[in-house]
Formats: sequence, C-alpha cells, structure tokens
Amino acid sequence: MIIRSDNGGFIHPFPEEITPQEAYLSRRNILRGIAASAAGWGLAQRQAFAQSHRPGALPAMSFVPSTAAGAVVMDKPTAYKDATTYNNFYEFGTDKSDPARRANTLKTDPWSVEIEGLVKKPGRYALEDLMKWGAMEERIYRLRCVEGWSMVIPWVGYSLADLIRRVEPQPGAKFVEFVTQADPKTMPGVRGGALDWPYVEGLRMDEAMHPLTLLAFGMYGEVLPKQNGAPLRLVVPWKYGFKSGKSLVKIRFTDKQPVSSWEKAAPQEYGFYSNVNPQVDHPRWSQATERRIGEDGLLAKKRKTLMFNGYEAQVGQLYAGMDLKKFF
Ligand code: MTE
Repeated sequence: MIIRSDNGGFIHPFPEEITPQEAYLSRRNILRGIAASAAGWGLAQRQAFAQSHRPGALPAMSFVPSTAAGAVVMDKPTAYKDATTYNNFYEFGTDKSDPARRANTLKTDPWSVEIEGLVKKPGRYALEDLMKWGAMEERIYRLRCVEGWSMVIPWVGYSLADLIRRVEPQPGAKFVEFVTQADPKTMPGVRGGALDWPYVEGLRMDEAMHPLTLLAFGMYGEVLPKQNGAPLRLVVPWKYGFKSGKSLVKIRFTDKQPVSSWEKAAPQEYGFYSNVNPQVDHPRWSQATERRIGEDGLLAKKRKTLMFNGYEAQVGQLYAGMDLKKFF
C-alpha cells in the first residue's frame, strides 16, 4: 500500500509486519494469480518474470573474495530467487514484484556515466572503462530496508573510493550526488508520480570514500539483474537500502548537501543520513527489529536490528559527536 504524505508526495508503505507474513504471502500469491489470469500478463512479461530469478541466466563475472574489514558477513545469503523477485525499484512500479516483471525493458547496453561538478577529470565514461577502474571483489553485505525487512547479498564490485580517486575531486567537493536512470519510454513507473524523477541520492565525501561503500556491477557471481539495478549501482551497507541508488547515470561532486528523492518526498520521515539505527524510529514504525527475507515461517523470529546495520566498528567514527536523532 502506498500512501500519500501531507505534502503531496508518496511515501514508503507501512512495513508488512502489520499483516502476518504467511497471510501476506498467500494473499499476495492469490492476488497475483487472479491478476495474472484475469488482467493477463503478456507472454513477454511472464517470460521475463520466469527468467529474471534464475541463476545462471546472466553472464558470470570474475572476482576475488574481499579482504576489506567487515566486507564479508557470516549470515546466510538470501536465496537468489528472493533477492531478484522482491525488489524496490519504483521506476518499474511500487509493488515488490513489479521490477522482476517489468525491468526487462531497461536498456543497459550501451551505458555510460557522467562525472561532473567539482572534479578535475569530469566526463562521460563508458561502462566498459569504469569496470576496469577497480579490482572486482565479492562482498557479502546485509541490506536493511527502511520498511523493516532485510536480506544478505553477495555483491560483485569495487570500492567507490577507487573511482573517486581516479577522477580527482577538487578540494571544495564535500558531497557526492548520485543520479539514476529515468527514461519514461523504458521505465513505466517514471510515467507516474510516485517520486520526483530522477531518483537522486547523496553521501558526504568521507562516507563515499569509505572502503565499504561499494560500486556494484554484479551479484551472486553474475552481472546485476536489471531489477537489482543493472548495469551498476551503489551499495552502502550501513544505511537504509534506499541510499543505494540503482542504475546510476550521473555522479556529481558538490559543495552542498544534496537533497535526496525521499527527503524531498517526505522530509519529516527521511533524512539525509539514513543510517540504520534501531534507536531512532521511523515516525510511523519502530526500527528496532527486522524480518529477514527467507525466514518467513509462522514461527520465524524477528531479528534485532543492529546499530549501523552491524557495521559500527567500521563506520561509527564517521559520526562521532553527532546527534543521530537530529541527523537521522
Ligand atoms: N534505486 C532506484 N533508482 N529506484 C528505487 O526505487 N529503491 C531503493 C534502492 N535503490 C530504489 C533504488 C530501496 S527503497 C531499496 S530497499 C533498495 O534499492 C532495494 O534494492 P534491491 O531491490 O536490490 O534489494
């Protein structure tokens, strides 16, 4: 359910904890069945959905396991099928199943990223070149969505810091803004008003330079599926998932704090920092616990959400002395 905020923008749905998960899933499946047979998904859509969550369908990537501190969590990775069919990618619709069903229209080849603003080497760089700017590593990160669910994903990519060093930011660059693809022709959600497109996110320069901030090109050993943000996306594991913009087209270095799409839509609910913090509740729900996707049985216990999503040892010092209730 999507609800309009007072300021007219759309905001995240309530977390599904309101409905017991089992009931939620069976209702969703029934509804999906009804929708599929009554409204009738097109053949292409059904084929895209079937293909989109099958490992082995996409090209494999080469990489080495990461040795960066905190880069490989021991939690069991989420099933590929869950990670590729339960997505937030509002450019393809607001239902969790929309991206897997619809993202096949996204054109990822050719792809380039514009690097601009306060940087010594601005320009438009081809994906093939960007892929050579760092050594591809596998990192197994927790992803905690602001809605109250989490996953564990083996990503393939390199530290964003490698790209940033390459383009040489000017001394005045204090923030990095990330702009993602917004093409109404290939992204049906962009024709609607769920957010003010394009999807924009931002980080402080020291957050962007942190070794755990990942520029991901793949997951589960293969190139990124379109619904997960192909051909390249950001992954910031200690922040709520919405900070990790998908299908990046622009990286801008700036001296002003960027205004992210979610901040613009509902500033009382989404701040610039959006660090995972079990002690700072969302105005409409608690952030103290989370539901791990895949642990959905009736008896499944909720997990306690960890400070900075469990990455406090690595990133806590970035926020030393800050009031995290104020800078949420
Ligand atoms: N990036 C774009 N461009 N559009 C989006 O709607 N959703 C965000 C983030 N990146 C989103 C996006 C949210 S709310 C989450 S939780 C994560 O992507 C989900 O990533 P996943 O679908 O790969 O799990």
